[in-house]
Amino acid sequence: MTRRVVLASSNAGKLREFSNLLAGLDFDVVAQGDLGIESADEPHLTFLENALAKARHASECSGLPALADDSGLCVAALLGAPGVRSARFAGPTADDAANNAELLRRLQEHDDRRAHYTCVLVAVASADDPEPLVADARWQGEILQSPRGSGGFGYDPLFLVPSRGCSAAELPAEEKNRISHRGQALRELVRQLAVWR
Ligand code: IMP
Repeated sequence: MTRRVVLASSNAGKLREFSNLLAGLDFDVVAQGDLGIESADEPHLTFLENALAKARHASECSGLPALADDSGLCVAALLGAPGVRSARFAGPTADDAANNAELLRRLQEHDDRRAHYTCVLVAVASADDPEPLVADARWQGEILQSPRGSGGFGYDPLFLVPSRGCSAAELPAEEKNRISHRGQALRELVRQLAVWR
């Protein structure tokens, strides 16, 4: 029997990724925006807590099981920043260009350019589920001196993928989905969902 699950995101790209990967599992994924559910706050210090808060909120508002993700860029020389503040690193209304410029500015004096993307995915069967499924993954790279490429989004033009010798914004979308933090975490979550109660 097909099971309806709400995705705690209104991002069309994410909905497509989730739906594709869950296709074999008989889940019908619906975006929270399509049910009139507003985004939850993300006030926490960790990706895990933010993802859980989003999933519980979506489940509480819909009465359905819920999936949520939280992700961001963590830079070694900046002690993990921008981290959970990745989307608003340069200020509350910052766009990708402003965030990238801020990242380059803060790294000006640093030789250590190591960084990784991280993604945490959570599934709850109900709003107060005491046993959420959790899948997380990291994608290691380095921060370039200047942007390269026009694909992807966010920090991708500055994120060097050492194994490919190009930026994440220069990778074909399917290749990025295959090796990225989100792709890896999604495949792990799918393994767990396959035996979900
Ligand atoms: P979200 O929580 O997954 O919507 O992502 C939070 C922020 O992290 C985004 O707005 C980006 O700044 C950054 N981020 C997360 N994943 C990626 C990625 O795959 N490429 C580039 N930036 C990303």
